[in-house]
Amino acid sequence: MRQKLVIGNWKMHGSLAANATLLAGIKATPARARLAVCVPFPYLAQCQAELTGSSIGWGAQDVSAETRGAFTGEVAAPMLGDFGCTYVLVGHSERRTYHGETDTTVATKALRALESGIVPVVCVGETLAQREAGETEAVVGRQLTAVLDALSIEQLGRIVLAYEPVWAIGTGKTATSAQAQAVHAFLRQQVAARGSELAEVAARLPILYGGSVKPDNAAELFSMSDIDGGLIGGASLKAEDFLAIGNA
Ligand code: 13P
Repeated sequence: MRQKLVIGNWKMHGSLAANATLLAGIKATPARARLAVCVPFPYLAQCQAELTGSSIGWGAQDVSAETRGAFTGEVAAPMLGDFGCTYVLVGHSERRTYHGETDTTVATKALRALESGIVPVVCVGETLAQREAGETEAVVGRQLTAVLDALSIEQLGRIVLAYEPVWAIGTGKTATSAQAQAVHAFLRQQVAARGSELAEVAARLPILYGGSVKPDNAAELFSMSDIDGGLIGGASLKAEDFLAIGNA
């Protein structure tokens, strides 16, 4: 049985004052799922100070594909390690769309995270046009394959996958539980299909769903056999909603 994991993606939201209230709120009540928050880089120190010793993990929303050097504006995985990050999102559709991240870049970022002992949350997902053209499996399959090609079996045993249909992000349109389950099952089966050594990895792989998850649809989504929790945008900014999803 895979334990449910619910990760908040704050995106580019927050302030020291607002975060203090939010973090105090989510620390106040234990949730049934494991919880974590992925926050803007400047707030990692605040999360480390507020969440150390709690059951809530924290992490970043991106990491450099490089380890060090003349890469102005980039943040390297060992730096995230300095701030106690457990997780880092890689390949979020907003990074792929607005920053031109390719499947190969995303796979390299996942590798850099793992080398620093940080769990990459590898995001995959199709656009509405791709879904309507019947390309969902081809698109998420291609995004996943780049990661499977770049990582060892041992490393694949340490990643988290997140299926986020681009058309469901911030739109209030959620994939139905059946639509999401179908893609999650496909992703798990793609990992298993790589060979018998991957069977165990595939069976244990946490696959989160993201895209307009709210307190009122989380339980239905999380009841599906291949949905192991959620990656939550908007609803992670309110302690009450985030906790309700963590208890769904
Ligand atoms: P929303 O929950 O706001 O749709 O965002 C989903 C997301 O992109 C999480 O990474």
